[in-house]
Amino acid sequence: VQAFARPAGHRHHATTTFSGRAADAPDPFTVPLPLPPALKPAAVLPDADVYRVTTRPAVAELLPGLQTPVLTYGGSYIGPTIRATTGRRVIVHHTNTLDMGTAVHLHGAHVPAAHDGFPTDLINPGTTRTYEYPNRQAAATLWYHDHAHHMEAEHVYRGLHGFYLLEDPAERSLKLPKGAYDIPIMLTDARFADDGSLVFIMDDSGNRTTLLTNGRPAPYLPVAGRRYRLRLLNASNMRVFRLQLAGGEELVQVASDGGLLPAPAPTGTITLSAAERADVVVDFSRYPAGTRLVLSDTLTGLPVLRFDVEGRVRDDSRVPSVLRPAAPLPPATTVRDVTFAYDFALGWFTINGRLFDPDRVDFTINRGSTEIWRIHNSTSPIGVPHNLHVHLVQFRVLDRNGVPAGPAEQGPKDTVSVAPGETVRVQATFTDHLGRYVFHCHQLDHSSMGMMAVFEVV
Ligand code: C2O
Ligand code: CU
Repeated sequence: VQAFARPAGHRHHATTTFSGRAADAPDPFTVPLPLPPALKPAAVLPDADVYRVTTRPAVAELLPGLQTPVLTYGGSYIGPTIRATTGRRVIVHHTNTLDMGTAVHLHGAHVPAAHDGFPTDLINPGTTRTYEYPNRQAAATLWYHDHAHHMEAEHVYRGLHGFYLLEDPAERSLKLPKGAYDIPIMLTDARFADDGSLVFIMDDSGNRTTLLTNGRPAPYLPVAGRRYRLRLLNASNMRVFRLQLAGGEELVQVASDGGLLPAPAPTGTITLSAAERADVVVDFSRYPAGTRLVLSDTLTGLPVLRFDVEGRVRDDSRVPSVLRPAAPLPPATTVRDVTFAYDFALGWFTINGRLFDPDRVDFTINRGSTEIWRIHNSTSPIGVPHNLHVHLVQFRVLDRNGVPAGPAEQGPKDTVSVAPGETVRVQATFTDHLGRYVFHCHQLDHSSMGMMAVFEVV
């Protein structure tokens, strides 16, 4: 079992060279950062925007000069970005042209069970299914991705992922950087064969040694000398990213998975386990034109993205000292334990001693109740990091081994990392929707192999 292995024999050349370049070791900073395309509504109704997305195979140039077969929402390795506003519904007609079932999950969204993409609730090949999203939650960087039973790891790895950016008037009034200065950045990793094709082997994370930023290896982004909002999403299956800008320049975190933090959290390091998000504001006016700043992953030493600072421009954005005060936590009525362990007989990771069974309800939750979940990572002596994603709700992280959550974890969260030997307590309120949802480790190779369970709100 390898979850954290560092890449072996990985080299970067200072100058472009075409001799001896392995397919998985492209030169950094040779390609610009692409932005995922925006999805245009097929119809605009009085109270809803309607979209159509077709899931289909395509070919993408991920590595310069090579053609990579990928699976896509609408033709691009990163699916089209859907922009939504709190209080206004979004309806997406998803057509599946693959030869196997898919399920679309809007990660971080508070939606009725029938629209949540339960793993066995499939869009069969050649059919269309309609998902409706009420958007009755605060502004947040959400994302949509495949969730088909046993297949989510391979499907997401091959490209079935996209941004869903939810806005609300309160956030807009804060005047954070927006428009061209609000950049979604999806971080993934991959293992490439020499011909550029993606190699997917379950639990092979130690060999997925090429980091991709919006689908390109260590691209560059020209930026004006002003503030930017960067929406960082770790969409990799298994990797933890620990990001620093030029060795520790200030990043001001303003939001996490479920939206704004109560207050800005300045930091030199952003750590994201799989599926976590961090929105950070960077003020590039601090640097003279011509400065190049590399965002890198300090766990591997690999570059992720280079910012090439250009001249100053007018900047009306700001980062107010109060963003969205956290609502007081209601008292919890139920406490549950969620234990991650390794079962030597099964040879795999379990939740509370069991593998996923879509027909078994593991937790029955009363509608309206507030619960504390104590998440234990008991996989020592193997010592594998996991994380927990709970569908339907945004939770609050209370503490880690009894130590109160830090500033970056003060906002609404839907995914939380749990290191070996750690116990993390989170609290959530199950307000309205009834039905069956899943919770799982979001290291998708783990969930695909059964590290997932079911809760039912009754
Ligand atoms: Cu991001 Cu159950 O998924
Ligand atoms: Cu796991």
